[in-house]
Amino acid sequence: MRAVVLVGGFGTRLRPLTRSRPKPLLPVVHRPMLERCISGLVSAGVDEVILALGFRPDTFERAFPDGRIDGVRLRYAVEPEPLDTAGAVRFAASQAGVNERLLVLNGDVLTDLDVGRLIELHERSAGRATIHLTEVDDPSRFGVVPIDDTNRVEAFVEKPPAETAPSRWINAGTYVFEPEVVSAIPAGRPVSMEREVFPQLVEDGHLYALQDDSYWIDAGTPQAYLEASLDLIDGTRDEEPAVHDTATVHHDATVRRSVISRDATVSAGASVLDSVVLDGAQVGPGATISGSIIGPRGRIGAAASLTHLCVTGDDAQIAEGAAHAGERLPEP
Ligand code: GDD
Ligand code: MG
Repeated sequence: MRAVVLVGGFGTRLRPLTRSRPKPLLPVVHRPMLERCISGLVSAGVDEVILALGFRPDTFERAFPDGRIDGVRLRYAVEPEPLDTAGAVRFAASQAGVNERLLVLNGDVLTDLDVGRLIELHERSAGRATIHLTEVDDPSRFGVVPIDDTNRVEAFVEKPPAETAPSRWINAGTYVFEPEVVSAIPAGRPVSMEREVFPQLVEDGHLYALQDDSYWIDAGTPQAYLEASLDLIDGTRDEEPAVHDTATVHHDATVRRSVISRDATVSAGASVLDSVVLDGAQVGPGATISGSIIGPRGRIGAAASLTHLCVTGDDAQIAEGAAHAGERLPEP
């Protein structure tokens, strides 16, 4: 089976981290987000992934020089202009000559969904398209999807105003499509999956959905990126090693529930709590990092304090003794 993974967005909500690298290439506990997204597909029999790309395609080719992730072959479909979520699927499928059943994924979703279960429901219900749903507390940031007791979708409401959402089950960003769904998407112009394709499928009675409560997160905001990372080290999802082999943590530093990435350094007397310190960043002596993300190669001066979801960009320099809370540095 082949899959299209949507990775063409600009990742604006994660700036300044996504200024020079697309969101799917940000490491989530020492592995690019995209690798974690694709590795879950191997057991479902996916052997080729077509990356639907726009922003900085060069960075993907550089990140995966042998053109494979966990044995899955990668192909690149680079859009001439952003074609939005459905236009991108149509373009990628045409470029790769797909005319069989297709799996589609949002490239910023990390989940333990068993894709085989989604395909099973798809075959049982004989719909044209079947999508994965997950339950969230605040559905207003997502596509809200009520279903009936035969799993048929009753409505698809993208990002409804708070309090008006008809359900807490939302589109979780993994889809199975029959070929006629893809060929019906108009070619050569931006088309939204969420605002055009899904509402039309609902109207025609062809859209089904699987409610599934396995681990799921959309890592597309700083808060969610931090959560997705910490969930992998604190036992929520897994307990992977939090401090990379090549990182240096001084014996007089405190590191609690935090990721210290490749070649990063935490100096004497520094505290890093509930945070992610990315590749090659240096946390100076006595500095405090709490609930924050330090971008690649940042230099955090001695006794500086970054708290309450600060996000620093590549090579950011934070002065000795500076105190920041909830800021993006530099401001995007
Ligand atoms: N190739 C390409 N071209 N990819 C795109 C484009 C485009 O023009 N626009 C967005 N994408 C990619 C993004 O890179 C991302 O991987 C994916 O499409 C989804 O875009 P987001 O910007 O992350 O959307 P969202 O999180 O606000 O909402 C979507 O995901 C939610 C679940 O995480 C929607 O599908 C919602 O309905 C859904 O609930
Ligand atoms: Mg998203």
